[in-house]
Amino acid sequence: MASLTVRQIDEALKQQLRLRAARHGRSVEDEIRNILRDAAGDTETPPGPSPSQRATEPAATAARRVLLIIGGGIAAYKSLDLIRRLKERGIAVRCILTKAAEEFITPLSAGAITGERVFSDLFDPAHEFDVGHIRLAREADLIVVAPATADLMAKMANGLANDLATAVLLAAKAKILLAPAMNPAMWSNRATQRNLAQLTADGVTMIGPNSGEMAESGERGLGRMAEPLEIAASVEGIFKTAGAPQPLQGKRVLITAGPTHEPIDPVRYIANRSSGKQGYAIAQAAAAAGADVTLISGPVNLPKPAGVTVVDVETARDMLDAVERALPADVAIFAAAVADWRVANAGAQKIKKKAGAATPELALAENPDILSTIAHRPSGRPGLVIGFAAETENVEANAKAKLAKKGCDWILANDVSPATGIMGGDNNTIKLVTANGIEPWPPQSKEDAATMLIARIAAALKGDKT
Ligand code: CTP
Repeated sequence: MASLTVRQIDEALKQQLRLRAARHGRSVEDEIRNILRDAAGDTETPPGPSPSQRATEPAATAARRVLLIIGGGIAAYKSLDLIRRLKERGIAVRCILTKAAEEFITPLSAGAITGERVFSDLFDPAHEFDVGHIRLAREADLIVVAPATADLMAKMANGLANDLATAVLLAAKAKILLAPAMNPAMWSNRATQRNLAQLTADGVTMIGPNSGEMAESGERGLGRMAEPLEIAASVEGIFKTAGAPQPLQGKRVLITAGPTHEPIDPVRYIANRSSGKQGYAIAQAAAAAGADVTLISGPVNLPKPAGVTVVDVETARDMLDAVERALPADVAIFAAAVADWRVANAGAQKIKKKAGAATPELALAENPDILSTIAHRPSGRPGLVIGFAAETENVEANAKAKLAKKGCDWILANDVSPATGIMGGDNNTIKLVTANGIEPWPPQSKEDAATMLIARIAAALKGDKT
């Protein structure tokens, strides 16, 4: 649709337009669209909702609107780019700036890019009359907080509402997406992690933070705000799944992910290069498909997926215990890179170097095979048991052998040779191995692979042939 910019509207006309829009329960932008439609003699019903419809079914019929709350962090400058990215995707954006955000960017710059008034004051009488914080909250299909500072997260987790941004967040019924950004020490602080756990349990969705260089010179680590393109893609994903069918509604899905850590002594351990990304993406996709998801996770550096019950474990034996406690399940997906061996003679104290003494010898004992244990359960076996095969050679032959040996229904085979960059990377190339044959999937992101897997699972549960 063509877009039109009207410049030099005086303040009195703007105020009239705001009042008229408020009376009709529309945004100013929608009101102007309606005026133009009328003037052009278009008598068809406009695509937007009527005021009476809006009262009963606001989210279902409204155009896609994001309310972007910009917090006070150096990453606020990236939020201007985010506005542009969202608008490129046909998403209308309204902005709230916190007082701290105004130290980094101005309402003028945000207003110029959104083409809408920018809000910042909870007690602005003109704005309460014109729009009001409750309407700001209700008129959004999605609220994005970017950057979400440690302070904003703490306020949200505790239900504070002492400025416009937090009042709107507390009044919101729409889904909320947070893009945290802060110094790595603030992110890893137990208070922030507590708040993160609370927000996740409250159903808030997280994107990032990413790892990398911080604005402060010499600082790096986990805490960079996700890039505007990543946030825009996540917003699109949320809009896409919002009205999407939920084919796994009522199904219990159990997923293992990440590496396990097997202690050598209290401070050292054996581990592997698994990042947990594929398992986490599967958990997210299963939750988006309406499943009741339990994710048993080894130690990883990833945000907890929204709407998923996460059980954190360290060792293979803890992982097996947690899996057995999480049963029954309709589907179990074993994406964890479980350590095959643990140290049988792990030290109760830190093993010390002793001058002239021989280097310590580690005796290894085999860990339980979690996938095989669950797949061979005489009772309470999940209806569909899926394993991964991480191979560095003879991928297909090894995967077929694993399918038989482990007793599972499907194997997702991937080549994890260092040259593929799959282990720890963002992409995956999978071969689906079943009793009926081998199906190669295209190289794709781990998120897309997860969506594809969930679609296949939904089809299999419906009775379609695999
Ligand atoms: N697995 C498991 N418990 C283990 C080892 C593996 O549940 N102790 C699961 C993995 O989660 C994966 C599948 O078994 O779904 C295959 O894992 P992989 O590491 O490819 O194979 P291994 O069984 O470890 O065999 P090998 O190391 O000989 O390839």
